[in-house]
Amino acid sequence: MMSVAANKILRGRSRGVRPMFSSGLADRLFSSSASSSKRLEGKVAVITGAVGGIGEATAKEFVRNGAKVILADIQDDLGRAMAAELGADAASYTHCDVTVEADVAAAVDLAVARHGRLDVVYSNAGIAGAAAPPTLSALDLDDYDRVMAVNARSMVACLKHAARVMSPRRAGCILCTASSTALIGDLAAPAYCISKAAVVGMVRTVARQLARDGVRVNAISPHAVPTALVTRVISETFPAATAEEVRRMVTRDMQELEGASLEVEDVARAAVFLASDEAKFVTGHNLVVDGGFTVGKDLLRNPPSFA
Ligand SMILES: NC(=O)c1ccc[n+]([C@@H]2O[C@H](COP(=O)([O-])OP(=O)(O)OC[C@H]3O[C@@H](n4cnc5c(N)ncnc54)[C@H](O)[C@@H]3O)[C@@H](O)[C@H]2O)c1
Repeated sequence: MMSVAANKILRGRSRGVRPMFSSGLADRLFSSSASSSKRLEGKVAVITGAVGGIGEATAKEFVRNGAKVILADIQDDLGRAMAAELGADAASYTHCDVTVEADVAAAVDLAVARHGRLDVVYSNAGIAGAAAPPTLSALDLDDYDRVMAVNARSMVACLKHAARVMSPRRAGCILCTASSTALIGDLAAPAYCISKAAVVGMVRTVARQLARDGVRVNAISPHAVPTALVTRVISETFPAATAEEVRRMVTRDMQELEGASLEVEDVARAAVFLASDEAKFVTGHNLVVDGGFTVGKDLLRNPPSFA
């Protein structure tokens, strides 16, 4: 039997995705390789959660755009391999558990020690936590604490240590990954939704303060994109579903926008824009990358049979 939460998130229509372009035209027009300008040339960035999913795609997109990146994560072997693949000049890996403030401080300091500057901190690491409990009274507060520590408290640590370095320089850009679940109540497990709402709140709070220092602070709110974080939760919620069915649920059944599906690279490109000088006057913003999922909802929950 489908849980209430599962029913809710799948309420969107199930249908095929029409390709917008039938040839390779879309690739030529929009692929990052088609872009000749390096929009982050000369910038140095720390990215947390950089070794998987959205963080990995963003690190690669940053490097493609000329940035030097510190990959901060807890997956040490994968992280070192990824840094080697990107090239020693462009990327270095550092073990950084974002729940440990000293690790966050060290990652920030490493960027300055290695490259002499720090332009961007992207606080992106996050976890899903346990699947939604059947009722609020079954909420596990230990799980809640873990989720809040990784998804919310860690972002405060990133903001704090990024500001420590950026405010004296009177320049810098801080990004935090929030989520569509911060915008519509009860889309995912309560702990996750609450942690992401906190991210949007902290970005607004800190952006006002740091504006006077010339430091920009923005959130990015992706909707469901098939990374390890999401597919694990969906697989737990629908244990009988195959990997392909799980992927289809995330990429089609949970979405509203026809003709395109959300990929990690879409979020990465949003991060490139916000980190670049093209966004020099954008601060305190929450850039929602959700294909319109949160702009509205059906007025009638159960349409009558005559409709
Ligand atoms: N995938 C989605 O649908 C989606 C939607 C909205 C927001 N988000 C958010 O995007 C961010 C990235 O998620 P993802 O989907 O790429 O997940 P993912 O699981 O693919 O990647 C998360 C990365 O964070 C790292 N990480 C986890 N705990 C860490 C810790 N304590 N310290 C340092 N690194 C840690 C992991 O090792 C991994 O590399 C998260 O904040 C997530 O909440 C994801």
